Formats: sequence, C-alpha cells, structure tokens
Amino acid sequence: MTDPIRLADYTPPPYVIDHVSLDFQLDFEQTEVDSRLRLRRHPDALPGRELLLHGEDLSLLAIAIDGQPLAPAQYAVSAEGLRLIDPPAEFELHTRVRIHPARNTRLEGLYQSSAFLLTQCEAEGFRRITYFLDRPDVMARFTVRLEADQQQFPVLLSNGDDVAQGTLANGRHFVQWQDPWPKPSYLFAIAAGALGHIEDYFRTRSGRDVRLRIYAEPRALPRSWFALDALKRSMRWDEARYGLEYDLDQFNIVATYDFNMGAMENKSLNIFNAKAIVADLERATDADLTYVEAVVAHEYFHNWTGNRVTCRDWFQLSLKEGLTVYRDQEFSADQGSRAVKRIDDVRLLRANQFPEDSGPFAHPVRPSEYVEINNFYTATVYEKGAEIVRLYERVLGREGFRRGMDLYFQRHDGQAVTTDDFRAAMADANGVDLSRFSRWYEQAGTPILTVTEQFDSERGVLTVQFSQETPGTLGQADKLPVPIPIPIALYRQDGLRLPLQQRDVGPPLAGAMLVLTEASQTLQFDGLQEKPVLSVLHDFSAPVALRHRQSVAELSVRLGFEQDPFCRFEAAQNLGEHLIQSVYAGQALDAVSGLAEIGRAFKALCADAGLDPAVLAECLNLPDEAYLSERMQAIDPSRLFHARQAVATWLGQQLEGALLQHYHREAQSAGGGFDAPSTAARRIRHRALALLIAGDATRHGALASELAVTARNMTERLAALSLLVHFGLADQEAALAQFYQQYEDDPLLLDKWLSVQASSPQPDALSRVRALLKHPAYTHRNPNKVRALIGTFGRLNRLHFHAADGSGYALYADALQAVDALNPQVAARLSAAFNGWRRFEPLRQEAMRRTLQRLLQAGLSKDSAEIVTKALE
Ligand code: ARG
Ligand code: ZN
Repeated sequence: MTDPIRLADYTPPPYVIDHVSLDFQLDFEQTEVDSRLRLRRHPDALPGRELLLHGEDLSLLAIAIDGQPLAPAQYAVSAEGLRLIDPPAEFELHTRVRIHPARNTRLEGLYQSSAFLLTQCEAEGFRRITYFLDRPDVMARFTVRLEADQQQFPVLLSNGDDVAQGTLANGRHFVQWQDPWPKPSYLFAIAAGALGHIEDYFRTRSGRDVRLRIYAEPRALPRSWFALDALKRSMRWDEARYGLEYDLDQFNIVATYDFNMGAMENKSLNIFNAKAIVADLERATDADLTYVEAVVAHEYFHNWTGNRVTCRDWFQLSLKEGLTVYRDQEFSADQGSRAVKRIDDVRLLRANQFPEDSGPFAHPVRPSEYVEINNFYTATVYEKGAEIVRLYERVLGREGFRRGMDLYFQRHDGQAVTTDDFRAAMADANGVDLSRFSRWYEQAGTPILTVTEQFDSERGVLTVQFSQETPGTLGQADKLPVPIPIPIALYRQDGLRLPLQQRDVGPPLAGAMLVLTEASQTLQFDGLQEKPVLSVLHDFSAPVALRHRQSVAELSVRLGFEQDPFCRFEAAQNLGEHLIQSVYAGQALDAVSGLAEIGRAFKALCADAGLDPAVLAECLNLPDEAYLSERMQAIDPSRLFHARQAVATWLGQQLEGALLQHYHREAQSAGGGFDAPSTAARRIRHRALALLIAGDATRHGALASELAVTARNMTERLAALSLLVHFGLADQEAALAQFYQQYEDDPLLLDKWLSVQASSPQPDALSRVRALLKHPAYTHRNPNKVRALIGTFGRLNRLHFHAADGSGYALYADALQAVDALNPQVAARLSAAFNGWRRFEPLRQEAMRRTLQRLLQAGLSKDSAEIVTKALE
C-alpha cells in the first residue's frame, strides 16, 4: 500500500501563491484550463532546487515562466504533478491543460451532471483541474474567466462577484468572477450549464443586502424554497449567536443529483447534493427536511469556520468540521426541540461513530497519519469532533465559549490554523488551562466511564466512584485520562429531586457537575434517608460509553421522573437493552427479571401528559442493533435481530391500548406542517404503529394500508410503505408498485423506494436487491443510488447482509468492486461495512475475512485498499 502522510512531517509550503488567474474554455468532452499563478518563495522555506505543483490526469498543452516557454530540461511531468527545476524566487507561471469532464466518473475535480458541469475540490480535487500547490495552507486570491457556448452553457458561475461578462463570436459568451477573499484551492468552484434558479434577499445586521440564489435543474426549483428559507434563518442565527455576518454581496447554491457526499462549502458558491436541498412536505420526510436544514446551515456556517479561518493541513480537518457540526447542531436545536435534536444526535453518534472508534479504522479526531485523506471525512472527525467542541462549551459555559470564539476570529481571521490554536483561544479568552483537552484530539477510542455506588444506610451516605479507561486501539496501546464533565443528580424513589449535599471527599462540585480528570475519583453525598437513585451524564455531556449498573427499579424511577429528557431516553434504552440481551442469551421473555415492572414503567411513561410526544417516541424506540453490537462479542446477528424483534412484539402488546390512543389522538396534528408539534405527532404515530404491528400484525396491519392511502405528506406515505414492506404485509407489492409509478421521475424518491426494499428483513430481501441492481432505476454511476441500495443493505439490513451462507457478503462485495472501478471515494465508504468483522461469531468472521481478502486480491483503488488493508491488519 502507498506510504502514509504524517502530521509529524508537516512543513510550511515552499512557495506562497498570491494570485491565481484561471481561464476556462468549457465543454463536456474536453475543457481547457489556462492558468497564471503569481508565486513567491515562502519566507520560512529552505531554498530547494525543485518545486512540485500537484496535478493529476492533466494533459499539459503549454508552459511558461514570466512569459518564456520552458525548455524540456526546466520541468518534468509525473503522475504526482509538475516539477519545476530551479524556479526563480518570484515568478509568474503560465500553464494550459486539457481535461475530460464527461469521462470523470470519480466526481472529483470538474465533472458532468446531466446538463451542466460542476466541480468538487475538497480535499484534493483542484489538482485534477490545473497544476497548483493544492494544500489548505496556500491561500490565494482567485480571478476566474469562464467561456463557453451560450446555448449549452447559459449559466456560468464561480466564487466571489461577477465583475464582467459579454457575448463573443460563434455563439460563445463569458463571465468573469473575482473573489476578494484569499482562499485555499479546496474552496474553489465553478458550475456551468443549463441551470434555473430561485432567488431571495437577506439584509445583514449592518444593512448590507445579499442576493441569495439556489440553482438547479428547473424541475427541482419549486421544491427548493424550504432550503432557501433555512439559509436565511442560518444567516440570522449566526449573527445573533456569534456576531458573524456574511461578507459578500451574493451567495449561491447549486444542487446536483450527482455528488459524492452531502454538500460543499466553496466560497459563496456552495454545491449541494440535491438530497440536501430539494425537499418539501409533499416529497420529503421530516427526517429529510431536518437534514436539509442542518446541511444548509452547516455549509453556510463554514463561511467563518472553515473559509475565513481554515485548516493548516488535513490532519486539522476537525478544526472546521467538528466546530461547524457543533454549530449546525446548535442551530437545529434552536429551530425545533432541543431535547429531540440531542437524542437524534446521540443515536447517530452511537450507531456510526462508536463502531468506528472500536474497529480497525479507529483514528483520533486529529489523526496523525493517512493514506487517502478522503477516507478521513468520518463520524469521528465530524461527530466526535463536534462533541469535543461541546465539551468546551460544557466547561466554559455559553458565554465563556462565545468569548473563546471571539478571540479565535480576532487572532486567526485569514489564517490556516490548527485544533491547538482553537483550544488556545478558548483557554486564553477565559484564563483557564485546557491543555488536557488535547488528549481528546490525540487519542482514538471511546472512553469507558464506569460508575459504581455504595450506600451506607446507617449514616445516610452515598459513595460514588467514577473511573475511566480508554481501550487500546491499533498503534495506540496506552491511553491517558481525558477530562469528562459529568453532571450529577439524585432522585428519591418517589421521583423527588434531592439537593446534593457533598461531603469533603474528592473535588468540590461546581454547578452539580464533576469534571473527571483522573483515572478514578470518588465523591460522597450525605443527609440521605434512603438509597437515592443516581443519575449522571445529563444531556450526554461527553462522548463516552457509560457503564453504570442500575436495577430495573432504579431505571424505572429514572424513566418516570428524570428532569433531563436525554436521561429519560437513556433509561428507556437501558431497560430495552436489558430485555434484548436477556432474550439473546436464551431466556424466555416471560422469565426475564423485572419484566412486569418494566411494563408498568413504560405504561406510566405513555400516560405522562407532560412528556413531548417526540421524546416519548424515542423512548419507545429500542436501541439499534449497531449500538447493541458495540457492547457484545461473538455476535450472532440473526439471533440479535430476533431478540430485538421479540422485545418489540412484547412492547407492542403490553402498550396496545396506549399506542392506539396516541395513534388516533395525534391523527389531526400529524397532517400539519414542519413545525415541532406536527413533526412530534408524526413521530409518535409512526413509532406507535410500528410497535402495534410488531405486537400483532393481523390486528393492526390494516392501519398501515390505510395510512398508505390517506397519507397527507411524504413522512406518512413512507412510514406506511416501510411498515408494509418490512412486515411483509398483504398490500406491500401494490404499495411498492404504486409508489414507483407515482414518483418514477423523482430521483430522490426512487432512492427511498430502493432503500425501503434494501433494508427489509423479509426472507426475499436478498433476491429483491439482486433484481434491483438490474432495474432501470439503479446505476453504479450515481452515488445516491449506490448508497440507497448497496449502502443501505450493508448498514441497515443486518439480517441479510450477514446471512449465514455468506450470500449477502458476496452480493455486496461484487457491487463494491464494480463501484470501485468507477468511483473510489464512494466505494471506500462501502468497504467500511466489513470493519466490525472481528466482533462476530466464528463462521461469519471467517466469511467476512475471506471476502475482504478476495477484494484486496482483485485489486482495489487506493481509497478502498486503505480501508480493507486496515480491516485485515
Ligand atoms: N467540507 C464538506 C462538508 O462537510 C465535505 C467535503 C467532503 N469531502 C470529501 N472528500 N469527502 O461540509
Ligand atoms: Zn463541513
């Protein structure tokens, strides 16, 4: 495998590029890129004899320095790029290259999407467009001239402001763009072709009018107003919360159906997967709308956290991503229900990031080496990174955090910096020492926080011991303790919250919160008449795996009375886990200890009028298989699926009356818009219906058929369709056919149609997926389709992906290989599905290991090879 790039080897760039001037002659088949770079030797660089400019898959047509064409001895072209021999200390480099957008199946650099051309440059796509120092610490001012056939390419967009345009001979035209802000090449973008747009304005708090546009294929535009509104709300929010204002006169978004990821924050020209823009109640679910709102905010927020202040090198990726995810999470929390947002985020972290952190690809939030940087756009860098930023807020308070942000921008605007710089700003602005937080960035693995309690009933004293341990990961055997903020509360058996009377043991608590800094610390509380119920880690205050053994009785008290909604959810998860693990271990459900008590606790919960129905829905949503698997060894995925299903069946039967009541009571609100009460109504109804059908499909299946017909929005329609298909109910075929017929022309809804089938636990799932691979709605060339069918099958269909005969692995690996030949980045994501192989029972382990070896032998891209090789190590 290729040698890794190491953080320890970082050196400043050899040259600075002050100005870039690009001229594109655009065409789908062949585009020519003429470039003029003003280069000067970096003040700290050692004089070298050679300068390597990155470049991949470029045909060099012309090259000159300061107007003089170069002789063959003055440069060399290789697979890596263009080597200039003995360049002057300061010069203008002129190059002209040819590229082939229509043949670009990797969707990195310049490529075609239906009737337009667009770019994706992060992380290293710019080098597929022209020769450059393609690294984030080289920030340059860009001037871009786009020229093309006017009929074919009526719209010509790039970063900054359009400063000139005109028509030319032969039906051609041009637009010239100038971006006043220096930026790294990964933020460069163009989009050109047949695009329509919608438009609105935003007045900044200092009175500047910003023109906002969303560009897309004309049919997608009527469904893009929600996104445009989310953009305005994001702009307002960033001013109010952080005093951050937009810094140009226009802000443009382009939506495409062909995109490797969610979206990209190019300066003033964000490019989005249509999935993250095109959404309204009629054709998108509440989850989709929530996603659109979050991604629009995320990319907009990058304008300050990412663009104005960027990363020194790609090891610092979380500097911009962790911080920007934290910011979009906070924005979303302020739009709807903060509690529900937190629960959703924790579920996601546990399902995606925890397995990453305990598997062969475990890496620190600030990795110390990589082979392919595109493989490090991970849940760890993004979501765990956001949790670390949240830790700063947790210990500094919201105002202290704001002071840190202010200082960060004051110090680093216009610079390319590190996660250490960010931490220093947080610490210095508040006069505190945060040096130990560096461990959160440097150590891979999820810390395990163990809480043990001892109650002395004679003296009325509760002793609580907190200890932490981060498991060893590949190449990082020994870990140091990390600072963990732990809010603490005590409840009486009847639910009354007790005051904390701390004894003189261990550090004094500030604001009922311990910041655990050592491997182990002990606290004592007194004045207690009876053993209280202990509750820790409110709001999921740190990204740790909590081991806190509590009895069913204690968990039931917490489920009933916790004031913190996350903790109520957590108590429900713990009770659910207890039941599932007992059944998995072979017990009959009837014989599981505390069963009746658990039933009563859930019934009481359903009857709690003060509880947000959306939080109730999440309490009734049993822990995911992915999360449960994290806490098990030698997993039999089929046994686990059936154990979880058995508990769902029991819950559906126990709560039948209450669930029916919720289902019918919320019927009217569920027809409402995208507001918190209406989305909560849909959440509880669909959770209730799923449990009712799990409890008794013959009795309640008809409700799903009825919902499929009466659905007033896509959330209802899709909930009905998934239930019909996943429970194999009578109307499933008709419903699938009808859905297809109705939405045949909508790529995003066809993705859903594929996903519903790919995630079905019914026995015919694998043959369905096999047939769908050949369906006209499917193609390996489109990342959304690949993720919808293959990705969903590997991630969510644990029953059939892990089929005991290996048929799921085989189908998946074949598809992965075919995708890898076209688009390595997308294939590498699929490869991660095998990462957990060592946690399974021996037969599956062996089947997965053989599959990985077969893939490696077949020859994989650098992207996929890095993942597969690590998995086998
Ligand atoms: N910066 C983009 C975002 O999070 C994502 C870019 C992902 N790039 C990649 N090569 N996977 O907003
Ligand atoms: Zn981002």
